[in-house]
Amino acid sequence: MQLDHVGIAVASLSKAIERWRPLAGDPDSPPEQLPTQGVRVAFLRVGETHIELLEPLTPESPVGKFLASRGEGIHHLAFHVPSVDAQLAELIHRGDRVVDRASRPGARGRRVGFAHPSAFGGVLVEFVESP
Ligand code: CO
Repeated sequence: MQLDHVGIAVASLSKAIERWRPLAGDPDSPPEQLPTQGVRVAFLRVGETHIELLEPLTPESPVGKFLASRGEGIHHLAFHVPSVDAQLAELIHRGDRVVDRASRPGARGRRVGFAHPSAFGGVLVEFVESP
């Protein structure tokens, strides 16, 4: 399975882009706002995978709460899968908890879905489908 990206929670997208530029270069495209998820994101290509920088739109959003309790840092790992719905159904079938019971629209026009951190030893895992 391919690692699509590593999600990193940041307080300021512009500062984080500057911080990561020496290692990851410029973002693939201009930052994208995802109001349904309460974030603004930018993707930086690193070889075959990406870093996703996530800036909360409000302190009440999930990433805003993450920043308040844990500070900046790694937020989730995202795996590329053929079908997000099939992947979530498999987790539910084996008794694992999920954040999303079905796929939903995510960044870059792709369908995404999140497992609950308890399903992967405390690591929040996202699944991403090809457009
Ligand atoms: Co992500």
